[in-house]
Amino acid sequence: MATIKAAILGFGTVGQGIYHILKERKQELLEKLGVELEVAKILVTDASKERVQNTLHLMTESIEDVLAEPGLHVVFEAIVNEEPAFSYLKRAVEHKCHVITANKVMFAKRGQELEQLAKEHGVGVGYEASVAGGVPVIKTLKNILLVNNAQRIQGILNGTTNFILTKMRIENVPFEEALSEAQRLGYAEADPYNDVSGQDAFKKLMILSSLAFGEQPNWAEIEVIGVDTISQTDMEAANLQNLRYRHVAEIERLADGTLVGKVTPLLVDNVHPLYSIDDVNNAVTVDTDYIGTITLVGPGAGMYPTASVMVEDYAAIMLKGVGQAVSI
Ligand code: NDP
Ligand code: HSE
Repeated sequence: MATIKAAILGFGTVGQGIYHILKERKQELLEKLGVELEVAKILVTDASKERVQNTLHLMTESIEDVLAEPGLHVVFEAIVNEEPAFSYLKRAVEHKCHVITANKVMFAKRGQELEQLAKEHGVGVGYEASVAGGVPVIKTLKNILLVNNAQRIQGILNGTTNFILTKMRIENVPFEEALSEAQRLGYAEADPYNDVSGQDAFKKLMILSSLAFGEQPNWAEIEVIGVDTISQTDMEAANLQNLRYRHVAEIERLADGTLVGKVTPLLVDNVHPLYSIDDVNNAVTVDTDYIGTITLVGPGAGMYPTASVMVEDYAAIMLKGVGQAVSI
């Protein structure tokens, strides 16, 4: 039986989720993949911090110390911001490790570069977790867009904001209190401004744009409005009309080839497909030329939904063949 090694960069909500799932599913993964995966190194900024998962593998040294681990084959990345995440994954790819990321800030900007580099080095890139948490939107688009052309994508791409809007509407909870609960539950970004301002949904929309349309629009031309503009009074007025606030991201290819998009709160009525999407759930509706419209719905944030799709990415890369140029 072969054993390969993994490193986890970041050991917060997502990193600890990966560690837990790899431990809990160790035997099943061994049976399905024919290799055992051992987590050898975990990179954090403060190894003395108290954590739910206890492990002796925490380290605060450099990425080079992580990559020096003999037999290292896979790097899971769950840290924050474009840098040092991109540089770390670039080094991991150059070191011939498969890389799996949840980091949409990095991937929106550097994803295509990372995928190209991975192709050159014959390793896989998994980024399912970077968009819509546990909802398998990346693998679905990859499967259906071999033949179909995407025309428009619309959805709720941020779990924290949908959770806040749901709490405000159903329980009359003030915005700040709902945000605090989303942070406690591990849904929010390290800096929750990214969630409430719409920047997180915007980055996810750009990742979907690259995948579905092969390019991204000029970022400066995309209108991004957050949910922090919605008051309790607005919410009550909407309730009285049986309307609901949703934070909607959309992008569309116009007939002249231009890509237009926006991220903004929208009042929807009870026949709109996003009307019933509550709590931390996300929904992604894709209009295509042959299939027509499909919608995927599920948990858009949280430890286990997110971490499990990263482990699914790992399994998919391994099943496609170690060392092959795969981007799942
Ligand atoms: P947390 O804030 O819970 O954890 C971040 C981790 O990264 C911490 O362990 C921190 O170390 C570590 N870290 C930060 N900077 C560095 C660095 N320079 N070097 C080494 N370690 C570093 O974040 P989450 O787990 O919630 O999110 C991680 C990533 O996953 C983010 O990019 C986020 O956008 C994405 N994501 C999160 C989801 C969620 O539901 N939470 C869902 C989908 C994606 P230390 O613990 O020592 O401070
Ligand atoms: N903070 C993000 C959200 C995490 O709430 O959607 C998932 O990407």
